[in-house]
Amino acid sequence: MSKPKIAVIFYSTYGTNHAIAEAAAKAAGEAGAEVRLLRIAETAPESVVNGQDAWKAQAEKMASIPLATPDDMVWADGYFISCPTRYGVSASQLRAFIDTLGPVWQKGGLSNKAFTATTSAQNAHGGQEATLLSLYTTAMHWGAIIVAPGYTDPSIFEAGGNPYGYSANAGGFDEKGRAAVAHQARRLVDMAKKLSA
Ligand SMILES: Cc1cc2nc3c(=O)[nH]c(=O)nc-3n(C[C@H](O)[C@H](O)[C@H](O)COP(=O)(O)O)c2cc1C
Repeated sequence: MSKPKIAVIFYSTYGTNHAIAEAAAKAAGEAGAEVRLLRIAETAPESVVNGQDAWKAQAEKMASIPLATPDDMVWADGYFISCPTRYGVSASQLRAFIDTLGPVWQKGGLSNKAFTATTSAQNAHGGQEATLLSLYTTAMHWGAIIVAPGYTDPSIFEAGGNPYGYSANAGGFDEKGRAAVAHQARRLVDMAKKLSA
């Protein structure tokens, strides 16, 4: 049987979601998937990015990671998406990419794919679940198969207990988070394998 193909796609301004995506990509690879780690293109003006040292440094750190494209979405059997919470929904950079996917969606190129998501937010009740739900709403429009972690592993309880998907406090992605993300990635690989069999 061929390996399930997983696209780990992230947007990150300050590094938290980049770290989550790296951990997810590693776990998915170890679980037997063929993995593409992909970043979402920046849409904020260069002057804004360069105006904040932390933002500029993160942009430079991830510059060598390939940008996600519609072809990657068609290629993958499963998507692991990680994106910061912004005003209770996902960052607009990710939405801008999603809004380029009309032509592949129309051809059915996004249907029957396994889909899971993670996020981070500044505050413990800053909108994590709402962000994940907003992404899962999009997954439903695609006819993707949502693979929420639920409470299927002790690591989820230990890392904050979010059954919609792992969520970090900004800058606080730790070992417990790493275990929960690894579980979520492995679960995605399992489901993608079944869907693509
Ligand atoms: C424009 C903007 C809006 C934000 N909105 C929220 C919010 O609604 N709730 C919250 O807890 N944090 C909010 N934050 C904090 C981000 O969630 C935080 O910067 C992000 O999780 C860090 O992820 P990153 O390190 O991958 O960039 C906001 C940040 C920005 C810049």
